[in-house]
Amino acid sequence: MPSPSILVAPSVLAADFGRLTEEVRAVDKAGADWIHLDIMDGHFVPNISYGPEFVRAIRRSTDKFLDCHLMIAPADPYLAAFAEAGADILTVHAEAGPHLHRSLQTIRALGKKAGVAINPGTPESVVEPVLDLVDLVLVMTVNPGFGGQSFLSAPLEKVRRLRAMTAGRDILIEVDGGITPETAPEAAAAGATVFVAGSA
Ligand code: DX5
Ligand code: ZN
Repeated sequence: MPSPSILVAPSVLAADFGRLTEEVRAVDKAGADWIHLDIMDGHFVPNISYGPEFVRAIRRSTDKFLDCHLMIAPADPYLAAFAEAGADILTVHAEAGPHLHRSLQTIRALGKKAGVAINPGTPESVVEPVLDLVDLVLVMTVNPGFGGQSFLSAPLEKVRRLRAMTAGRDILIEVDGGITPETAPEAAAAGATVFVAGSA
């Protein structure tokens, strides 16, 4: 088996929002594979970022795959708005609501790729019952809410187990938080293939 290719997804959270279009075009031109969008509600995470209209503005700035990381609870009432704004994948947190299966069904019904994110304190086993509905698993390597935090290596054990759990399936494993040129190789060795980079 050829090893899966590596995808780099710069996070718009680290951009200068006053120069959004230029910033997105710069990472696009520099070779970004995806554009990572961090949606925060001040409730599921202790920070507020931006909503669907911001995603729509980014959609107008690039043709790249828009990787939409929803750190909001509940997520279900907003899935259609983010889909319509131009997201390509919608990733919901397993911790964000009682009906993960329903959230994933809704995303698929909207015609989008579906992802599940897990916090550092959440076991990867929550993903197992919904694997048929999942295109990507996002393993948080910091506690979500802010850019610029230090990388946690303990979640990489979950990446290793997820690699085995998803063997033979078309499911990507993404790491997010504190990814730098120093920490990315460790995450790649564990089996991650999509790398979010904000500060770095
Ligand atoms: C954190 C976000 C990340 C953030 C990463 O909650 O999910 O995507 O932008 O930023 P860095 O790479 O600085 O940790
Ligand atoms: Zn993120």
